[in-house]
Amino acid sequence: MSTGRSFYITTPIYYPSDVPHIGHGYTTVAVDALARWHRQAGDDTWMLTGTDEHGQKMLRAASANGVTPQEWVDKLVEGSWFPLLETLEVANDDFIRTTQARHEERVQQFVQALYDRGYIYAGEYEALYCVGCEEFKPESEIVDGTGPFEGLKVCAIHSKPLELLKEKNYFFKLSEFTGPLLDLYKNEPDFVRPESARNEVVSFVKSGLKDLSISRSAFDWGVRVPWDDSHVIYVWVDALLNYATAVGYGTDPAQFERRWPAFHIVGKDILRFHAVIWPAMLMAAGLDVPRGVFAHGWLLVGGEKMSKSKLTGIVPTEITDVFGADAYRFYFLSAIAFGQDGSFSWEDLSARYQAELANGFGNLASRTMAMIEKYFGGSVPPPAEYSDGDRRIQQIVADAAAEADAAMDRFRPDEAVAAIWTIVDALNGYITENEPWALAKDAAQRARLGTVLYTAAEGLRALAVLLSPFMPHSTGMLWSALGIAGRLVDEPIRAAGAWGRLAPGSAVGALAPLFPRIDQ
Ligand code: MSP
Repeated sequence: MSTGRSFYITTPIYYPSDVPHIGHGYTTVAVDALARWHRQAGDDTWMLTGTDEHGQKMLRAASANGVTPQEWVDKLVEGSWFPLLETLEVANDDFIRTTQARHEERVQQFVQALYDRGYIYAGEYEALYCVGCEEFKPESEIVDGTGPFEGLKVCAIHSKPLELLKEKNYFFKLSEFTGPLLDLYKNEPDFVRPESARNEVVSFVKSGLKDLSISRSAFDWGVRVPWDDSHVIYVWVDALLNYATAVGYGTDPAQFERRWPAFHIVGKDILRFHAVIWPAMLMAAGLDVPRGVFAHGWLLVGGEKMSKSKLTGIVPTEITDVFGADAYRFYFLSAIAFGQDGSFSWEDLSARYQAELANGFGNLASRTMAMIEKYFGGSVPPPAEYSDGDRRIQQIVADAAAEADAAMDRFRPDEAVAAIWTIVDALNGYITENEPWALAKDAAQRARLGTVLYTAAEGLRALAVLLSPFMPHSTGMLWSALGIAGRLVDEPIRAAGAWGRLAPGSAVGALAPLFPRIDQ
């Protein structure tokens, strides 16, 4: 068990009615890389993911398929969502499903607490609801339908008709939190990141908050309102609470105290729920607000948000079956500035695989190991006297490690990879300049050859450690080949930049190509 500072990080919980696509995979691998980084830094890390299983969307999908909602979600969670984590090599610590008793009972307890504190009242409600969003839509997100929906009001996100709902609802006094939320954003400028997301949230809240309808009575697939069982709790209130129920809210005070509050990573489409409604709910309950909310952008395919309903959905296995999980993780986390939209294309993915992974990192590893095998019988040579050029490599490694750690602290995995990649580029240049194959021909240069290959191998050691949160599979192979005692995941990542961890004399093993050639 680690003794470091708590680092609790979450993905959104996914609607299981959709088969996972690369957009869901994107959020998940970003959170996993951040969690792996902090775990390896010795922080007391906890990564949570899960599924959001209640609500009308799920109920309708189940009835359309002629099964009960529980059967429907069970099948999808087991058949599609658990396997996604394996496909992408995600090392989550927990997986919460909102239909679990550990969650449902505590949701009731939380909502009861808000009711007892006077933050909930009964009222009449009439508004346009989007089942796709599971949300009553504000004016700004209602547009006129076109084509088959001509003459109807449709959701700006889903382009599907909205439903006019009129019912008795319970309301949460969200409007009372306008001031406290604005204070929060002011006092903790990093509460919402990036800057663009923060600005959007601040101006939304400044325009004034309305109370939030938090119950539904037209259907019953949800958690019952504890004081009125003709209502179920609004699916978003139920869903947001997963972050607290999963770490022992109401059941395990020690665990809750240890983990809470969390960092939430979410797509920008669900930012307001996390940066406005959720902290207000927590304030109303007298609990700490999250440590921060980071909104990432959308994956675009053909210039539009990729989505299953628009038939641009790509399932992660289409990529991992060809390129492997490491390439998937590397590609999405390095090619897209975290926080901005990014376009996915097969051409870009293949080009980066070839240039950066196969020719860049993979080739560096295989030629270094092959030369140690060939010139030193597979035993890491000792470094002799270091030249300025060698010391420059040591400095690049130290700087890259520090910069990567700072970038991960800012929730910028893309910038962390870019910093780490300076090592790959520098080492490839270093080998070209130093021409170990030429040194090997001259017996008088034996010590120099040893220094050059030690430098390359020790640089690879640093790369294995720094890249392991991003590419656990290939770095694991490299680590074994380097012959260093101990598990890679136990290597302290914040010490990765210190030169000299690789012991001369260690026996290197064979290394299969890390990123094999792909026949197009
Ligand atoms: N169930 C809610 C979240 C509740 S959290 C308390 C939900 N689920 S979702 O399955 O629709 O979306 C989950 C995440 O996937 C969101 O962060 C969303 O932004 C992300 N993505 C879905 N499509 C995406 C892209 N095309 N690109 C990037 N991420 C996208 O919302």
